[in-house]
Amino acid sequence: MEKMISDKELCEIAVNIQKNAYAPYSEFRVGAALLCKDGSVYTGVNIENASFGATICAERCAIFKAVSDGKKDFVKIAITSSSNDFTMPCGMCRQVMSEFMEDGAVIVTNGKEIKSFKVSELLPGSFSFKKE
Ligand code: THU
Repeated sequence: MEKMISDKELCEIAVNIQKNAYAPYSEFRVGAALLCKDGSVYTGVNIENASFGATICAERCAIFKAVSDGKKDFVKIAITSSSNDFTMPCGMCRQVMSEFMEDGAVIVTNGKEIKSFKVSELLPGSFSFKKE
């Protein structure tokens, strides 16, 4: 059963978790809130590392937390950041979204307005693993 949670409410959850971002290098704090079909919400933040390539984005953090808890059906993910602009997901996060929520939505806000995109719109022709 899909719980009705508005895009605005999901953005508020993402804003609230943003304070837990670990971003001492970029000082760019990102928060994500992922709504699962069963109504549960998973949050994520970006977690940076002195070895920069080991950094994980907020979106993948939220998705991986959910998948590791056995969730695989996602409705939408909200993304917020310390920037006053809209923060769009990076290419790697789009690919991960396409694995688990190709029919889902990406909600972004600049603190005033909210925009919504379909994952398939943000990564058309995404890679999928097909044997032969
Ligand atoms: N970042 C995210 O968390 N999500 C994105 O979609 C874009 C980038 C993080 C990674 C890094 O910690 C910081 O933002 C600057 O790139």
